[in-house]
Amino acid sequence: MLVRSDFNVPLENGKITDPGRILASVPTLAQLADAGAKVIITAHLGRPKGEPDPALSLAPVAARLSAELGRNVQLAGDVVGSDALARAEGLTDGDVLLLENIRFDPRETAKDDAERAGLAKALVELVGDDGAFVSDGFGVVHRKQASVYDVASLLPSYAGDLVAAEVEVLKRITTDVEHPYAVVLGGSKVSDKLAVIEALAPKVDTLVIGGGMAFTFIKAQGSPVGDSLLQEDMVDTCKELLDRFGDVIHLPHDIVVADEFAADAETSIAFTRDGFTEGMGLDIGPGSVERFSAVLRSAKTVFWNGPMGVFEFERFSTGTRGVAEAIAAATQDGAFSVVGGGDSAAAVRSFGLPDDAFSHISTGGGASLEYLEGKELPGLTVLEQGA
Ligand code: 3PG
Repeated sequence: MLVRSDFNVPLENGKITDPGRILASVPTLAQLADAGAKVIITAHLGRPKGEPDPALSLAPVAARLSAELGRNVQLAGDVVGSDALARAEGLTDGDVLLLENIRFDPRETAKDDAERAGLAKALVELVGDDGAFVSDGFGVVHRKQASVYDVASLLPSYAGDLVAAEVEVLKRITTDVEHPYAVVLGGSKVSDKLAVIEALAPKVDTLVIGGGMAFTFIKAQGSPVGDSLLQEDMVDTCKELLDRFGDVIHLPHDIVVADEFAADAETSIAFTRDGFTEGMGLDIGPGSVERFSAVLRSAKTVFWNGPMGVFEFERFSTGTRGVAEAIAAATQDGAFSVVGGGDSAAAVRSFGLPDDAFSHISTGGGASLEYLEGKELPGLTVLEQGA
C-alpha cells in the first residue's frame, strides 16, 4: 500500500512542537500494518526547493511515528531512488517504510503534467503492479501534486479514514447547519481569507474577525492602526465587504497595542473607533474577548480558523485563549465546533485544552478553507473519478 500522509508539522530546532498531524494519521497506518500490508508512506515537510535539504528531512517524523505506531518505521535516504527501491523490495508483511520528503524531488510540485506523472510512476514502481493507494493526507488534498493527485489515477485508490472523516465534518458545516452559526477568522492576511469570507458571510449569523487581518478592516472603517499588520491594497476590498456583510461581521472594538514586537513589550489598550498612531496591535482587547465570547457561547455551530493575536507571546495570547475557551464551552453545551488551521490547533494545545474539547480539530488549514469556499479539491476529485 502506498499511503499519502500529511506530516507537515511545526519544527523548532529539529523538535516537533505540535504532533497533531502525526497522531491523526496513526489509525489508518496502524490498520493497514496490522492487516499485514507492506506500507510505504510518502509525505512532505515544509517547502524545500526541489532538492534535498537536511533541515527538512522527515527523520524526526519517522522517530515519532515509530513511537506512536509501536512499530519500527524505516526512513528511506531518498524519495524514489536506489535506497527507497531497495528498502521497498525488502519489506515483509506489516513493515512500514517512510520515503524521504517528497518535495526534495522537483517533479512533486511541477506545473508540467508529464513531469509530475514521471514521479507518480516512480512511486507506483515502489509498490508494484498489485499495489494500491490510500490518500490520507487531508491537509494536502487541495494540491495538484504528483503524490496527491497523479498517483491516484495510476493505482486503485481509496480515501483513508482521516480524509473521509474530515470531509464528513466539513460537509456538516456547509449543509444543514444548525443555527446560530458563528465563524471566527484570524491570522495575518485578509487576502488568504477573502474567498472564505465571500463564501461564508451569506450563510452565517456571526462572522468574527480578529488577528492581524482585522487591522485592514479597522483601517477600512477610517481608524488609524499605527504600525500594525496592514494590507494597504486590500483596504477598499474590506470596505466593500463591510458594506455588504456589515450586519454579520464583528470586528474587535478594542486592541492591545504594543510599543514593539516583543514578548515583554510595553502595552496599552486602544479603542478601535479612535484607532492609534503609534505602536502595533498584537491582540484583541479585553472588551472584545468578552463580546466575542458571549456570541460564541450561544452558537450551535462554530468554525474557527486563525489566532486572534500573537499567542506565541504569553501576554498577547488572551484573545486567542478567550475564543478557544468560549468555543470549548459552547461545545460542552452541545454545539458542533470545528477548529481548522495549524496555528489555531497549535494554540488550542498550547493552552492545555484537550482535543476533545472541540467536536473536531481539522488537520487541514488551506484544504479546509478551500473546501468551505466551495472550490474543487484535486486530491478529492481524483478519488471520486477513480471510484
Ligand atoms: C499545510 O500545511 O497546509 C499542508 O501540509 C500543505 O502544505 P503547503 O501549503 O506547503 O502545500
